[in-house]
Amino acid sequence: MTADVPKEIEKVIISEQEIAAKVAELAKQVDADYVGKEILLVGVLKGAVMFMADFARALRTPVSMEFMAVSSYGSSTSSSGVVRILKDLDRDIVDKHVVVVEDVIDSGLTLSWLLKNMGSRQPASIEVVALLRKPDAARVDVPVKYVGFDIPSDFVVGYGLDYAERYRDLPFVGLLRPEVYAVRP
Ligand code: PRP
Repeated sequence: MTADVPKEIEKVIISEQEIAAKVAELAKQVDADYVGKEILLVGVLKGAVMFMADFARALRTPVSMEFMAVSSYGSSTSSSGVVRILKDLDRDIVDKHVVVVEDVIDSGLTLSWLLKNMGSRQPASIEVVALLRKPDAARVDVPVKYVGFDIPSDFVVGYGLDYAERYRDLPFVGLLRPEVYAVRP
């Protein structure tokens, strides 16, 4: 099935089918690395919701799921590295094999902070799976073991990614037309 593409989307960058294939591939890699273990998936709200739901169902390894919501200070489109916890984990992660699930790594500042924060809570191990990464936007080097797609630093939305809280529900990742977010004089 091919989804309708709203007029605000210039073009589809990653189709629904390509996402599904990549989710299955990432899950296979993770399954192979965690044989005999259980995984605690930690989804970073809100962007990771779609990916988390599909990824958890693609895994064969037993998982439990937790969510964290953070907000970075700074403009709504760029991260500052100063992070505030809006919703913390519901339980401790001591001795758990944690896999942090992110929709996109942009500057890397959010993830860098999260890894430091969660790393201090004595998990057995901690790794990251990110569907998308924008290498050109990286401001810090973050160790990410599982990456779906490296993409250019363009304004993309869909499959969890928003502009002003819209477009998260699109089943594909698409390029947003600049006139949608351009500031008018
Ligand atoms: C996005 C994304 C990451 C972060 C990446 O979240 O989900 O958490 O930005 O940016 P960084 O690498 O530059 O730190 P956002 O703050 O937009 O919140 P949302 O998931 O609720 O949309």
